[in-house]
Amino acid sequence: MKTYIGLVLIVAAGLVFASCSKLQSDNVLATANCSSCHGSVMSPAPPPDPAGNTSTSTPTVGAHQVHLNGSAFASKVACSSCHVVPQSAGPGIHPDGPGSGNIVMFAGVALTETNTPGTRFYDSSLPTVVPQPTFNTQTLKCQNTYCHGNFKGGNNFSPTWTVVNSSQDSCGSCHGLPPDDATHQGKGITLQTCYYCHTPMIGANGVILDDSLHVNGSLELYGKTVTSW
Ligand code: HEC
Ligand code: HEC
Ligand code: HEC
Ligand code: HEC
Repeated sequence: MKTYIGLVLIVAAGLVFASCSKLQSDNVLATANCSSCHGSVMSPAPPPDPAGNTSTSTPTVGAHQVHLNGSAFASKVACSSCHVVPQSAGPGIHPDGPGSGNIVMFAGVALTETNTPGTRFYDSSLPTVVPQPTFNTQTLKCQNTYCHGNFKGGNNFSPTWTVVNSSQDSCGSCHGLPPDDATHQGKGITLQTCYYCHTPMIGANGVILDDSLHVNGSLELYGKTVTSW
């Protein structure tokens, strides 16, 4: 029993620490004068980019704001999911200068592994999905991200970063309704019945009730949060 309580405390402390460090980096972003070179008082991310461009069709502007603001159905995406974020700016620290290579380095939720052996719903007929996302600077597509469907039963959709008109995040683009796996197929499941099993993220008639529980790296299942599957 003691060990059990100890374990709970360690897990709880871990959660507190995780949320602290997130707050800390948000504070850094809020206080450092990042937007003197890119972004605005609303957000240090473009627009404008360091050269002053504001159009979403410019690669360095692209779909930043739709990711950072979140949408009716998806969580806000942290800068660190797509970049190594400098904690301060100045000579020798940041910026690192032109020609410094591919600046997009995926981390966090974009790398979520699914169909992991030993988990409750592991399906040995399907591969374990270990996302290795890339941003292609020629085609401007993001490939193999967990977020856009590189997971068990997902569509592994490759959105184009500079197309910002809601054509790439329609319901069913990242995963089918329902997804393509034995858990869902052939059972007459429709958008109207997702909520039987995926409450409280989604409600009756397929309405997303809590966007912070969607595209967040964990599964909302039977009213509980499943962190690995
Ligand atoms: C003196 C101007 C300047 C300041 C101040 C500045 N940046 Fe930048 N930033 C740039 C330039 C130029 C680039 C693109 C070239 C590069 O990456 O060095 C960039 C790129 C970035 C990128 C893309 C990833 C990368 O490293 O290229 C991130 C993320 C970023 N900046 C975050 C920040 C944050 C957070 C702050 C505040 C702590 C900040 N910047 C302050 C000029 C600046
Ligand atoms: C969903 C992924 C994603 C998120 C989240 C994201 N970025 Fe970016 N960022 C990109 C992509 C893609 C590019 C374009 C890279 C290229 O053209 O090679 C980019 C480019 C940039 C640039 C322009 C760099 C240059 O070379 O001029 C800056 C500055 C930047 N990001 C800052 C940020 C900051 C600050 C945040 C958080 C407030 C952030 N980004 C969040 C994907 C993202
Ligand atoms: C009868 C219960 C049930 C219903 C109804 C249901 N799901 Fe699921 N769903 C599950 C279970 C169980 C899992 C985890 C098992 C797995 O990974 O195969 C899951 C996993 C998922 C996943 C994670 C990827 C995957 O396939 O594992 C997505 C996405 C998903 N469901 C979407 C939906 C959508 C969208 C609907 C409605 C169109 C829906 N589900 C309806 C039971 C259900
Ligand atoms: C940008 C990609 C994307 C789009 C668009 C998208 N989903 Fe999802 N969806 C995901 C991901 C990723 C998961 C895996 C679980 C997670 O991270 O929340 C998921 C999981 C789900 C689940 C399982 C419960 C859970 O854990 O969240 C349901 C139900 C679901 N989506 C319904 C929908 C519906 C309904 C729409 C349209 C309104 C939709 N999705 C559009 C990416 C997407």
